[in-house]
Amino acid sequence: MSLKADFTQGFVRNQWYAAGWSAEIGARPLARRILDLPVVLFRMPDGTAGALEDQCPHRLAPLSLGECADGGLRCGYHGMVFDHSGACISIPGQDVIPPTARARAYPTIERYGLVWVWTGEGAADEGLMPSVPSYGEAGWEILENGYQHHGANYRIEIENLMDPAHTTFLHKETIGNPAAKNIPVEVSRTEHGLKAFRWIENIPPTPLDRESRDFGDGRVDRQIAFHFQLPATSFVDIAVIPAGAERSDQTMNAGVRTYSYKFLTPETQSTTHFFWLHIRNFRVGDDAFNTKLRGSLEKTFDEDNVMASAIQREQERTGLRQKTALAIDRAPMMALRMIDRMVEEDQAKAA
Ligand code: FES
Ligand SMILES: [Fe+2]
Repeated sequence: MSLKADFTQGFVRNQWYAAGWSAEIGARPLARRILDLPVVLFRMPDGTAGALEDQCPHRLAPLSLGECADGGLRCGYHGMVFDHSGACISIPGQDVIPPTARARAYPTIERYGLVWVWTGEGAADEGLMPSVPSYGEAGWEILENGYQHHGANYRIEIENLMDPAHTTFLHKETIGNPAAKNIPVEVSRTEHGLKAFRWIENIPPTPLDRESRDFGDGRVDRQIAFHFQLPATSFVDIAVIPAGAERSDQTMNAGVRTYSYKFLTPETQSTTHFFWLHIRNFRVGDDAFNTKLRGSLEKTFDEDNVMASAIQREQERTGLRQKTALAIDRAPMMALRMIDRMVEEDQAKAA
């Protein structure tokens, strides 16, 4: 068997994508390529985030070379000003604004500390926004503003994120857990995607588990669930509960629980914006722990990036994706097939 690499496949456009952290978008316009489109992010004087095509309709100057001034985003070439709807609100030296003086605007939503853009031509559907449980609730600590630039197509990233088997080897110095090596991964469908998960049962709590919750002298069950949500969100749900306890959300939230989110935004066919957000219900308010955790997450994601980028280069060189298949490929293959179907539907809708 041999699977071809295909970097001509389209993206799912009628969706929300994380475009930037709220904190990044301020006094200066920010250029960011999203789904191979040049986008400029900026703020209106009232703080509303705007996302426009990074191109002035006058002489195609990138609007990101301009500045936030005169009540909107002012082009750095001849000073036309645009608001977040893309409408031109003033032109130096003339009163008449021609109807063609418009920039393409992308609808935005600001949520979870991020500015999201809707990249489709169809009406923006807020119901399609990813949701992050427990975000902002009392008793949960958030690590945000996580960002890495990854050198691989987002499908290679999704394969990696739906593949628990690699953690033992690629992350042996960070999150790898040799005890999990031979426990098979189960795969099941979820409302907007799928999850690959395993329970490691009846093991002693780790020192960190013990510090975070009182498990007494007892043993614990540990869940690691890798979720994929169409088209490009991944999160790992880790829960530690007393051994044999009921596996409900209530019990897991009373134990040690972590959600590790990655919002992947394709930049080009060979690069991905990797936004990460981490939420946990233990060591809340512990800044020293936050610093340590951030460092170890960054290191883990760096390890993934090194591997994914090397695979991207090899796929480009050979035109191949895979020459043999293993049992551990089930979840990644299912995720990629779901993306393929969604791209087809999206393109049919556009046509
Ligand atoms: S190129 Fe933007 S105003 Fe002329
Ligand atoms: Fe990894």
